[in-house]
Amino acid sequence: MRKIIIALDGYSACGKSSTAKLVASALGYTYIDTGAMYRAVTLYFYENYVELTNPKAIAEALENIEISFHFNPNTQKSDTFLNNLNVEEEIRKMYISERVSQVSAIPDVRKAMVRQQQKMGKKRGVVMDGRDIGTVVFPDAEVKVFMTAELYTRAIRRQKELIEKDEIVDLDEIIENLQTRDRIDTTRTESPLRKAEDAHFLDTTYMTIDEQVEYVLQLATTKI
Ligand code: C5P
Repeated sequence: MRKIIIALDGYSACGKSSTAKLVASALGYTYIDTGAMYRAVTLYFYENYVELTNPKAIAEALENIEISFHFNPNTQKSDTFLNNLNVEEEIRKMYISERVSQVSAIPDVRKAMVRQQQKMGKKRGVVMDGRDIGTVVFPDAEVKVFMTAELYTRAIRRQKELIEKDEIVDLDEIIENLQTRDRIDTTRTESPLRKAEDAHFLDTTYMTIDEQVEYVLQLATTKI
């Protein structure tokens, strides 16, 4: 069977990662959470006091950052490692969400991450979710889906995820964070979030996860 690349792009908290993990499990593919990579860089910058206005400090820091993943297809648990340390829990916290879009708008950060992502997907057989996978990282991906959902629905989903991790955050604060990130992600000059011309548009507001997975798998079976 031919191995392909499945690119799931879209707004924050619209079901990309849950869908991507289940699709990857079903196909026996690797799952790559590119948002986690930008979150890990943000954590590193935060912990090492890297100033976002200092290009030299940023370049030096990027040299010292190694990101890897461990994906368990049976449990659909994906762990993110920053320099061999499991940072999966830490990078989901609100203080990282509040800073990540500023970090991911820095051109040198993007260049370094895109290079790593292209390396990770070189052999194909990957499901990658993010903002620029279908447009920049793998413009030749066989399946491209651009996902969205209504803001309120996305905020409720994100709040539920945070509660499951014992972080209680006000819904208004989550809505504001999603809006701010959407604005920065769609208006930045370097690879802004936008739908690739050949991507399928999927509004998940009224869809269950199973329906989302089914939709992507249907598209994949026509290409495999
Ligand atoms: O997917 P997630 O919400 O965890 O992504 C966190 C942030 O990382 C996004 O808001 C965006 O700023 C950035 N990101 C990006 N390009 C990607 C994936 C994520 O700029 N491919």
